[in-house]
Amino acid sequence: MAVPPALLSHESTEHYTPQYILDAVIACMGAIVLDPCSNSREIPNVPAARIALENGLVQPWEGRVFLNPPFGHDVERWFSKLYLEWSAGRTTEAIVLWKSATETAAWKTLTAISCRVYFPSARIRFVGPFGDDGPGPTFSPALFYVGTQAKRFEEAFAQIGALWVVPGKFY
Ligand SMILES: C[S@@+](CC[C@H](N)C(=O)[O-])C[C@H]1O[C@@H](n2cnc3c(N)ncnc32)[C@H](O)[C@@H]1O
Repeated sequence: MAVPPALLSHESTEHYTPQYILDAVIACMGAIVLDPCSNSREIPNVPAARIALENGLVQPWEGRVFLNPPFGHDVERWFSKLYLEWSAGRTTEAIVLWKSATETAAWKTLTAISCRVYFPSARIRFVGPFGDDGPGPTFSPALFYVGTQAKRFEEAFAQIGALWVVPGKFY
């Protein structure tokens, strides 16, 4: 039996960030410097000073980064890249929109550098490639903060859900 597309949305690459999340990202960090996995050069969904379309994993990630990666079995490579760029001091701050998948290696890589995680109290309705609401997500979303200004993150996303202070992160 064929599986309906909505049930596969956790594997989708084309699920764009809704505006209320982008507003909170900008309220937290200020203007976004880099979207390393943009949807389009002509009409990028994320208002970043720099975008990458196909080579996001091979260029330096400098400044304030917003990352909503292509989901899928190899998603960890995006978090390994962020780990590397943050550890090298090129990325100064980052917010990641991904999901709650605590059993995965990808989760462990991402939470090794995140100091705060928000678990939204409602499913996030991603935007589809044609501007409409995309398929309903089948996963529980999570928002990760990598940086030293945790209070700003907490305030910007305060309405969204439940906060987890990652143990051992004293920012
Ligand atoms: C989940 S969407 C996010 C789009 C946009 N950044 C946003 O938050 O609304 C991920 C995007 O990454 C693009 N993508 C896939 N592989 C990529 C790569 N290696 N480098 C840059 N972008 C890539 C896909 O085409 C897709 O549009």
